[in-house]
Amino acid sequence: MTLNCHLRALCAHVPETVITNDDLAALVDTNDQWIVERTGIRRRHRLADTENASDLALAAARRCLEETALPARSLTHVLAATCTPDHLSPSIACILAGALDAGPVMAMDFGAACTGFIYGLSLGRAFLAQAPESRILFVCTEALTRRVNWQDRGTCVLFGDAAAACVLDSEGGEGSARVEDVLCQSDGTQRDLIVVGGGTACRYAPGDPVDDSFFISMRGRDTYKHAVRQMVQVCETLLARNGLTMDDVELFVPHQANIRIIEAVGSRLGVGAERVFVNLAEYGNTSSASIPLALAEARAAGRIRPGDRVLVTAFGAGLTWGAALLRF
Ligand code: UT7
Repeated sequence: MTLNCHLRALCAHVPETVITNDDLAALVDTNDQWIVERTGIRRRHRLADTENASDLALAAARRCLEETALPARSLTHVLAATCTPDHLSPSIACILAGALDAGPVMAMDFGAACTGFIYGLSLGRAFLAQAPESRILFVCTEALTRRVNWQDRGTCVLFGDAAAACVLDSEGGEGSARVEDVLCQSDGTQRDLIVVGGGTACRYAPGDPVDDSFFISMRGRDTYKHAVRQMVQVCETLLARNGLTMDDVELFVPHQANIRIIEAVGSRLGVGAERVFVNLAEYGNTSSASIPLALAEARAAGRIRPGDRVLVTAFGAGLTWGAALLRF
């Protein structure tokens, strides 16, 4: 049986407010040159005080449904990838389903950190294998600036806020991409390398001040090494099991965390810079939203044409990582 999972109407939403490297230099001991040379990031966007991750997701989801001309009532599932939900509960998926008046859909969030988009493609395929008539609204949304420790120069320069939405179904349509294959992996023994705090492991009583455990913490150097090794490994494994090489891939869209990681992965996979899409200078690391935001921009820029095969790969907290092959 051919497993048909198509990704349609990928739409991104990025908040307007921009934080420049110079803005950060006024907060912590850093400077534009260090940030650009060590990360490739120049700006990142930050959601408004009145917004939450669900609002970014809702804006992207509304645009996506508008583009497909699908009524929200025709959805069967709402799936949200996020590591910065509005609340521990209710889920962003339930908030979205309610705001869109989607009716009694199956609605749930899941956490795979920066690998959320790829894990979501795998979940979407599984739901479609179970019930091919499913129509899944899939969003990736992050309010990372709400968990950034603005006193930690090792992490506060890296992250930004964004959301993206698409519909996964069996039919596809104009401009859609078929998910040819997807591979998701993890290594929980390395869970301490990146932690997004603020969960119930932070034991607070009313009146307590928050401490460092409430925020994002990361062992950057170690994370960097695992990121390069695992993204290369998972891409090679996925290509090999499909009988493909990088020559069969028109565009490579890696997770946008650090330009040096992207270059190292590209060079180990033997893919030239002209086939690698990079937009992290403008947005920084937007975790689960990073790949769909990059895909949406790559399409808008004419970097993806009908018939193109695109390889995406991501790496994040957990540790989690994965890769997927998309055929547009
Ligand atoms: O999306 C999830 C996955 N996350 C990632 O993939 C991120 C992976 N890690 C990285 O991207 C890099 O490790 C960082 C960008 C976080 C750091 O770059 P690095 O080249 O690994 O630097 P480092 O942590 O080894 O630090 C080098 C120096 C240190 O100073 P000393 O000890 O050599 O005096 C840091 O204190 O750079 C210092 N440093 C900074 N200096 C200026 C760290 N952050 C900053 C900063 N501005 N913002």
